Amino acid sequence: MSSQNVWNADLYDNKLSFVSLFGKGLVELLQPQPGERILDLGCGTGDLAYEISKSGAAVIGMDFSDQMIEKACAKYPQLTFMVGNGENFRTQEKYDAIFSNAALHWMKQAPKVIESVHLALKSGGRFVAEFGGKGNVQTIIKGITDILLEEYRIDSSNRNPWYFPSIGEYSTLLESYGFKVSLAQHYNRPTPLIDGDKGLNHWLDSFADDFFPEFTKEDQIILYKKIKEKVRPYLYQDNQWVADYKRIRVVAVKETIWD
Ligand code: BEZ
Repeated sequence: MSSQNVWNADLYDNKLSFVSLFGKGLVELLQPQPGERILDLGCGTGDLAYEISKSGAAVIGMDFSDQMIEKACAKYPQLTFMVGNGENFRTQEKYDAIFSNAALHWMKQAPKVIESVHLALKSGGRFVAEFGGKGNVQTIIKGITDILLEEYRIDSSNRNPWYFPSIGEYSTLLESYGFKVSLAQHYNRPTPLIDGDKGLNHWLDSFADDFFPEFTKEDQIILYKKIKEKVRPYLYQDNQWVADYKRIRVVAVKETIWD
């Protein structure tokens, strides 16, 4: 992955817990079965891997961030977690299903991710994923890029670390690697951020490092204030920030005649 984002596992658990809470619906779509081998790709601090494991499936969580994996191992010592890169991982034993919540938008080389997932699945195995779709957090991105340009003369157009495809684009890619796409949805999911006026600060601190490499922590305080005033008319309601999330949800099945 090319993102230089620095992951803070404690901030993620304390102020961004909605990520896993929203992901529980995706576990229902996965319908994990006892005895299945399931990979949670981009497992973060392991909450959804744990949810999946309640079904009796054998879950392995993988994440690019060693900070996240360290915390996942501490929270759920009974589960297996490993550091790995979604863009090029390979596995010895194949999986019945690969699950991914709120992670694939960090992996800009989507064809390489899909190839890795396809190779890691058994024939008939399913890929169940949710992540940011076309237009995701576009108000926040415009607020960041406009302020960097207007106030600091920084052109940040090539700093965006995220991949937010349309369902047409993503389904076509899945099909080109031999998946049958049985579900593809693109929907708005306005997402309230925790902690009143500080909610957007936590979000920027957790996810937006790639936009601000030259800013010290002190400079960021002023920068965040400016960004917040720019986007406040669109995203601040009733003393709460509501991020303009747009999700993609896909279920795809690996169709082969034999392995
Ligand atoms: C998301 O879950 O949509 C998201 C999270 C962090 C950065 C960008 C998008």
